[in-house]
Amino acid sequence: MTNQTGRSTGLAIETAGLVKTFGDNRAVDGVDLRVPAGTVYGVLGPNGAGKTTAVKMLATLLRPDGGEAHIFGHDVVREADAVRGRVSLTGQYASVDEDLTGTENLVLLGRLTGHSKRASAQRAEQLLEAFGLTEAAARQVKNYSGGMRRRIDIAASILNTPDLLFLDEPTTGLDPRSRNQVWDIVRAVVAQGTTVLLTTQYLDEADQLASRIAVIDKGRVIAEGTKGELKSSVGAGAVHLRLRDPERRPEAEQLLKATLDAEVQLEADPLALTARVGNGDADGLGATEKASRALAELARAGITVDNFSLGQPSLDEVFLALTDRPNSQGGATGTRNEERNATRTDKQEEAAA
Ligand SMILES: Nc1ncnc2c1ncn2[C@@H]1O[C@H](COP(=O)(O)OP(=O)(O)OP(=O)(O)O)[C@@H](O)[C@H]1O
Ligand SMILES: [Mg+2]
Repeated sequence: MTNQTGRSTGLAIETAGLVKTFGDNRAVDGVDLRVPAGTVYGVLGPNGAGKTTAVKMLATLLRPDGGEAHIFGHDVVREADAVRGRVSLTGQYASVDEDLTGTENLVLLGRLTGHSKRASAQRAEQLLEAFGLTEAAARQVKNYSGGMRRRIDIAASILNTPDLLFLDEPTTGLDPRSRNQVWDIVRAVVAQGTTVLLTTQYLDEADQLASRIAVIDKGRVIAEGTKGELKSSVGAGAVHLRLRDPERRPEAEQLLKATLDAEVQLEADPLALTARVGNGDADGLGATEKASRALAELARAGITVDNFSLGQPSLDEVFLALTDRPNSQGGATGTRNEERNATRTDKQEEAAA
């Protein structure tokens, strides 16, 4: 599918100084975004950062209090109808009817958007199959698991292939397997020419899917760039090591400092060490290469490593790097970000959801 862009800029979304206030809370406080058509653009931020509010303005569900936003060249306020014809939205809202089955929901949406009964039924079947929901097709959506629910939401939002799809935290609360399924779906949607604006609290999700990322905090964009640019400002993550022999720890510390060129922390556990690995250094080595080089050095020195892991930087680490403070918990939805590591708390998320 080819997208027809409204302007020659090739931008699906362009905002300038976008503002939304609730009372004296500036939920979105002067946001400038430029989202190239045909890409996945990630908007990364903690609870209450203003992600949903921004998306709602772009999808014409909320009226901006200041600034401008264009979708494929159409003004979201003055040309709201034209914008609505090009976008679709899913995420933190109900888009399907809980009491209807998967099939009924999709067929109804097809009928509502002007398709024949037969075409709607066909499209519904096709989507349910593509999303692995064939077996659940005849079940009421209220009996779906979280992951199935997220998939039917996305299926509903791409029933008519939109030019621009907003996915608002599509995988929050999903287990790793369901997250992967949703990621595959997003990739498939983009391959068909749709532009995707994805909001997320997970750095690794933005990393997996997005070509550019804006980090927002308290309604403002605090960093923007390609994944590589963002990561090199943050560092690639942490290497955790557990040694066999506590006596060798000081030696291991020196070796790691030298090979990783990084700060090394001694954990309370007398066997454990943690080192931050930078990215994009002059030597051009990635975090994984550096970590394996360090392991090789330890082996050469005869220091036995019992346990080793290389973790992604958490959202907190991104915020620390960008703002010199951990991310604040401004949102009404609680503290599900706290002390989390983006790569390993899906279970907790599920419990919190
Ligand atoms: N309808 C509303 N009325 C009043 N305040 C609101 C409203 N919607 C959002 N807010 C406030 O605006 C700020 C931004 O909220 P928003 O929902 O956009 O954050 P978010 O980044 O989507 O967070 P989350 O990750 O928790 O979904 C918050 O302080 C929130 O309390
Ligand atoms: Mg939100």
